[in-house]
Amino acid sequence: MRRWISLLILLLATSAMATPAFSQAMSNQKESLYKRLGGYDAIAAVTDDLIGRLIADPQLSKFFVGFNNESKTRIRQHFVDFLCHASGGPCAYLGQDMKTAHAGINISEQDWQASVKDLQATLDKFKVPERERSEVLAMISSLKADIVHGQ
Ligand code: HEM
Repeated sequence: MRRWISLLILLLATSAMATPAFSQAMSNQKESLYKRLGGYDAIAAVTDDLIGRLIADPQLSKFFVGFNNESKTRIRQHFVDFLCHASGGPCAYLGQDMKTAHAGINISEQDWQASVKDLQATLDKFKVPERERSEVLAMISSLKADIVHGQ
């Protein structure tokens, strides 16, 4: 009898694991940040919103003066590709490394803080859930030493 009860419990547990909700939750655990953020279009939309905020930010606008449209398009595309690649997506990043891209433009600690606020506003706007939000912020923070030079 005990053996039958154990078998029944095992069967019930296995069938619970096979439900779509369970397997969806399990695969969600393993999905890349890229997929959980919503893929390429979502990352492109987040990038456009963020760049719009950086350019309009009185603390940061000075950095984005003097680029022609071609340069703006290139930087924007590199930004999208960088985020796509860094979050585990199927994109190659062919731009400069972060140290080279930001060398000599003297981004200060205050500039950095302003850019993090802009990023948080973008993440708020797109209602990015807590887990993905902290992963994005951690990934960006890991680049700080390469980007901030004028500390
Ligand atoms: C205070 C914050 C930041 C400022 C003021 C800033 C400013 C700039 C500027 C002026 C450029 C153009 C460089 C050039 O082509 O001459 C640039 C390029 C770039 N930035 Fe930033 N940046 C900031 C933070 C970040 C962060 C957090 C990332 C990480 C995703 C990032 C990713 C890039 C990328 C991918 C490029 C393009 C590099 C290339 O075209 O090869 N930046 N940034």
